[in-house]
Amino acid sequence: MSHPLADFRSDTVTLPTARMLESMLAARVGDDVLGDDPTVRKLETRFASLFGKEAALFMPSGTMANQAAVAAHTVPGEEVIVDASAHIFQFEVGGLSRVAGVHVRTLDTENGQYAFGQLARAVRPVNDHMPRTGLICTEQTHLFSGGTIVPLDYLEEVYSLAHHHGALVHMDGARIFNAQAETGIDFVDYGKFCDSLMVSLSKGLSCPIGSILIGDGSFIERARRVRKWLGGGMRQVGYIAACGLVALEETVPMLGEDNARCRRLGGAILGIDGVQMAQATIDTNILFLEITQASIDAPMVEAALADEGILTLALGHRLLRFVTHRHITDADLERAVAALQTVLKP
Ligand SMILES: Cc1ncc(COP(=O)(O)O)c(C=O)c1O
Repeated sequence: MSHPLADFRSDTVTLPTARMLESMLAARVGDDVLGDDPTVRKLETRFASLFGKEAALFMPSGTMANQAAVAAHTVPGEEVIVDASAHIFQFEVGGLSRVAGVHVRTLDTENGQYAFGQLARAVRPVNDHMPRTGLICTEQTHLFSGGTIVPLDYLEEVYSLAHHHGALVHMDGARIFNAQAETGIDFVDYGKFCDSLMVSLSKGLSCPIGSILIGDGSFIERARRVRKWLGGGMRQVGYIAACGLVALEETVPMLGEDNARCRRLGGAILGIDGVQMAQATIDTNILFLEITQASIDAPMVEAALADEGILTLALGHRLLRFVTHRHITDADLERAVAALQTVLKP
């Protein structure tokens, strides 16, 4: 293959910036399991205060952070309400039952938003025969509706409903920075309407590894024990945490460009026969397409595009995913659109 690769599969393919690599060399580190790593402490303090919370915990992955959050908020046998299409339910290997030992109640959502009547009815009454509803989960941005931004007033209503019934809220904020780049809403306001949240450093922010779990002090202490139990205690991890501090200054401000590029990609693809958008809006950096041409399916389109150096992700028979990130250029967009046009030519 002679073409340079344009990798639209995910924003997780991003590589650390030169400044991140330099920050690794310069990082002051220590044994973080013993609480000795000053760079990790700094990262955790920065992110906790960014979202107006007491404490934070550097985690190896978003998956571990989400699962540790659920385990730290609940006791086994409690019920957790999750969106049926959420990452925490669909793509974390059943961790909710295996790690937290919770009873899971899934609800369908529209663009990541529960219908309030349905949500209110799903919260269990106090009853000796039923599990207690301990936690409600939200996701920002909502991945499977195409990186949709979940509005703040909706998050506020979920939070009030949960607290009214004595339940808590955990937000999977893997791509909350992509949402904030569009809304301009203060991170502290996002922090107000959840008891804990996870943010990913290793997606559009371009850090090589890591997520941060954020919440109040006693919650973070419990989550730290779960992290240790899961084998996620890391030693001189300040080398990695240093990249997260750079990200706040360098790559977070770039996410608006990724979002805008995704909208341009969607606009250009709209004109091509044999494909349509499989989402209502392009709010951020994720675009799901439905291949409507009968003679070709999504895995075939994925393979044909890959031959042209355009990497995408087929999800099932008809869905194809494009994700923009800082390595995707305008020239890559043009190549992707031209290649798709060729592949779908009847
Ligand atoms: C919405 C969402 N939540 C959680 C995760 C899990 O993050 P990680 O891959 O770091 O485990 C992902 C990863 O793609 C994600 O997209």
